[in-house]
Amino acid sequence: MCGIFAASLQQQVANQLLSGLESLEYRGYDSAGMAVLNAAGQLQLVRVAGKVANLRQRLAEQGVHGQLGIAHTRWATHGGATQANAHPHLYQGLAMVHNGIIEQQALLAQAPELAQQPWLSDTDSERLLRWLALGWRQASDKLLYLQQQLASVQGQYSLVLIDQQQPDCLWAARSGSPLVLGRSEQGAYLASDSQALQPWCHERALLDEGAVLQLQGQEWQLRDAQGQQQEPKWQGFSQQQQRVDRNGYAHYMHQEIHQQPEVLASSWQQLMTNGKPRLERLGSGAEQLLKQVKEVQILACGSSHHAALIAKYWYEAHLQLPVRVEIASEYRYRQSVCQADTLLMVISQSGETADTLAALRHARQQGYLASLGICNQAESSLAQEVDYLLLTQAGPEISVASTKALLCQLQALAWLQLAFAYVRQAPNWQHWADQLDALPESISHSLSHEQQIRQWALDLPLLPCCLVLGRGPSYPLAQEAALKLQEICYRPVLAFAGGELKHGPLALLEPGMVVIVLAGEPHLANKMAANIAEVQARGAEVWLLSEGQLPVIANRQLNLAEQDPWLAPLRLLPLVQLLAYHRALSQGELIDQPRNLAKSVTVE
Ligand code: M6R
Repeated sequence: MCGIFAASLQQQVANQLLSGLESLEYRGYDSAGMAVLNAAGQLQLVRVAGKVANLRQRLAEQGVHGQLGIAHTRWATHGGATQANAHPHLYQGLAMVHNGIIEQQALLAQAPELAQQPWLSDTDSERLLRWLALGWRQASDKLLYLQQQLASVQGQYSLVLIDQQQPDCLWAARSGSPLVLGRSEQGAYLASDSQALQPWCHERALLDEGAVLQLQGQEWQLRDAQGQQQEPKWQGFSQQQQRVDRNGYAHYMHQEIHQQPEVLASSWQQLMTNGKPRLERLGSGAEQLLKQVKEVQILACGSSHHAALIAKYWYEAHLQLPVRVEIASEYRYRQSVCQADTLLMVISQSGETADTLAALRHARQQGYLASLGICNQAESSLAQEVDYLLLTQAGPEISVASTKALLCQLQALAWLQLAFAYVRQAPNWQHWADQLDALPESISHSLSHEQQIRQWALDLPLLPCCLVLGRGPSYPLAQEAALKLQEICYRPVLAFAGGELKHGPLALLEPGMVVIVLAGEPHLANKMAANIAEVQARGAEVWLLSEGQLPVIANRQLNLAEQDPWLAPLRLLPLVQLLAYHRALSQGELIDQPRNLAKSVTVE
C-alpha cells in the first residue's frame, strides 16, 4: 500500500508533488520518487530509498523542471525498500506509479514474452507497467486501451501513467484502491486521499471503482467501469480535512493520546439527543434493524479487532446477544455459518483495510440481515459499502499506532449497546448513558497519571520478552497493550488470558522479567490475584494497572478509583498507550512511523 500524488499544473510541479507525498506518508514511507515531464517531453526521474524527506533532499541537489508529474511514497510488498523498487517505474517512455497488489503470475501467463524480459525491479508494479505498454503505442484511444488491458488484470490497483510522447497528458485508473481527482485554478491533481489535495484544490471528486481517466491540460475524460462517459462528482472539503498540526507535541501519537477526552466529548454530543441515543446516526430504518437482530458477527483487523473482542464481552453479558468476532483475514477465506437475523459489523478506522473490505464483500454473499460499519473516514470504501454506518469522530489520526481512533471505536460500540437496550426497552440504557457521559472526564483522569507511567516506561525491561495478562474484557485490552508495545518499541510482548498462564506461558518466566497485569473486573479479582501469585513465585515481577483493589501486593501498582466496571478497559487504555509511547520515546524510536508498517493497510 502506497501513496500517489500527481498533478498537471500551469506552474512548476515538483514542490507540490513533494508536499502531497508528505501528507500521504501514513500510507507507507520506505521509499519515494517522482517523475516530471517538461514540455519537450524530457522525463526526469528521481527515486530514493527511505522517506519523503530523503526525496526532498535529493531534489534540492538535483532539480527537476516541468509542470506535469507523478509521485509516490511506497510501502514494500514485492521486493525490498530499495531505490530500484521505488516508483515511478519506467518502460519505453512510459512512467507509472501504482498502489495495490497485482497477481503477477496470472499477468505473465497471459503474456509469456514479458516473462522472458530482464526486470529492473522486483515489483509487481513493473510487470503491470510492461503489460500496459504492450499495445500502448498502437492504441489510438488510450483510455479505451487502458480499460481493456486492465480488464484482465487480477488484483487491486490505483495507478497514474505518463507518456514521454504526450507530455501534456496523464492517465489514471482505479480498482480496489482509492484515487481522488482535484482541481484548482492552477491545474488538476490526483491523489490517494482527499486530505493530500486539500491545500491545493477547491474541489475534489472520488473516482468510482473501475473508472479510468485521461487528463489533457485542464480537460478530462472520465469513463466508468462500463466504459460510459462520466462527469466527476465534485465536492468541497470539510473542516476535518484540514492539515493537522502537532501543536507543540513532539509526536502525533502523544498529541492523539491527549486529544482523547476532547474527541470523546464531542462524539458523545453527536451520538445523543435530549438524553436519548440518536439512532438516525446509523441510517434510516436503524431502529427496526436493532430490534430484529438476534446475533452479531464482527470482522476487523489489529486494534479494531481488539475493540470488537471487548464488545463481545459487553453484548453477551449485558444484552444476552450472541456475538462472534473474527479477524477479517481469516474470515474472508473460510466457509462460515450465518444464522438468521445476524447483523454483520465491520470495524475499521481507515475504512480502507484490504482484508476488512474483502471480508465485508465475502460476507455479503452469506445472507446477513444487514451490514453496519464503524469507521473514522466518511469517504472510505467501507463507509460507502455498508448498509448502516456509525461514523466515529476521532478526527485525523496520523500516528500509525492507533490510540484515539480505537477509543472512539470503543465508545461507538458502547453506545450501540445502549442503543440496542433502548430500542428493546431494556431498563439499563439510562445507566449506561450516564456512564458514557462521564467517560471523557474519566479519561482525563487516567491521563493525569502520565508521569508515573513514564517512570514505569523508563524502568521496564522488555528483554528477552515481556508478558501482559488480562481476564474478561481486560484480556483483549492486554492484547492491545502488547500490540502497542510491539509496534513502536520493537520488542516481543506477548498477551495471555490469566487462566492460560499455566498452560504454557509460565515456562517463559524467569527472575527479573516483568509481567504487566491489567485488571478492571472486580468479579475476577481473586482469580487474577492467584495468577499474580504464580508469577511472583517464579521470581518475575508484576506491574499492575487496575481499577479497584486486588487482594495482592504487586511489585508496582497503579490503581484507578473503582467505578462500574463496564468501561474499565477504556479507562485503563490510556495508561497502556502512554506506557508504549514513553517506552518508545526512551528508546529513541521513530514513534509516528514505525518501521515496516503503514497507517492504512490497503493491500493484503
Ligand atoms: O484502519 P483499520 O482500523 O482497519 O486498521 C486495522 C489495523 O491495521 C490497525 O488497527 C493496526 O493494528 C494499528 N496500527 C494498531 O495500532
